[in-house]
Amino acid sequence: MTSIMTSVKIINHPLVQQLLTKIRDYQSLPGTFRQHALQLSHYLMYEALRDLETRPTSVDTPLSPAKGSIISDYVIFAPVLRAGLVLAEAAQSMVPEARIYHIGLKRDEKTLQAISYYAHLPETLPPASRVYVLDPMLATGGSATAAISLFTERSVNDIHLVSLVAAPEGIKRVLDKFPQVKIITASVDDYLNEHGYIVPGLGDAGDRLFGT
Ligand code: PRP
Ligand code: URA
Repeated sequence: MTSIMTSVKIINHPLVQQLLTKIRDYQSLPGTFRQHALQLSHYLMYEALRDLETRPTSVDTPLSPAKGSIISDYVIFAPVLRAGLVLAEAAQSMVPEARIYHIGLKRDEKTLQAISYYAHLPETLPPASRVYVLDPMLATGGSATAAISLFTERSVNDIHLVSLVAAPEGIKRVLDKFPQVKIITASVDDYLNEHGYIVPGLGDAGDRLFGT
């Protein structure tokens, strides 16, 4: 069995935890919620991108040549719609040359099964691609596992999953199926309630981001 300790990275930075506290607050209005969620997404992506491969390069400063480095990984961001768009916005601003494959999944509110409504990926991808699946709420893990499968089916296995908040149930489901996946999150919360919501969580991320 995969050790959760080695597969899950909880970002305990004070700025991250303060932003998480703000977005948990049910009184945050959509504009404020979105602004804080976007800032939090930047911090989580920054940590998630920490181990990207680089290659050496050089540039000329106004004074002399300088050694430098440039990202060499083939980076893919895969936001799970809708709520994953906030992580994608942060991610794209940090790695503008990355490819973005949107994945449309909607949880059936009764069965909690993730229903696919959009996935437009090429039949083949470079096997050494570095994929970031962006799913802000890792609840049952149905959406995340469906999104990850799209890449493993294409022989891509270097996969990170970035979530604002994760439930133990979702982490277990993802790692049982894909032990190679690394999960980056601001919090591992307590449990899922009978409606599949993360407790304490922050409620419905998509509805809060988009005011629906
Ligand atoms: C939410 C959330 C995740 C999913 C997590 O999306 O944004 O994608 O639920 O639940 P799971 O781990 O149990 O699959 P939702 O299906 O509500 O769609 P939305 O973002 O469009 O609101
Ligand atoms: N989706 C959400 O947006 N929130 C949860 O707590 C669970 C699934």
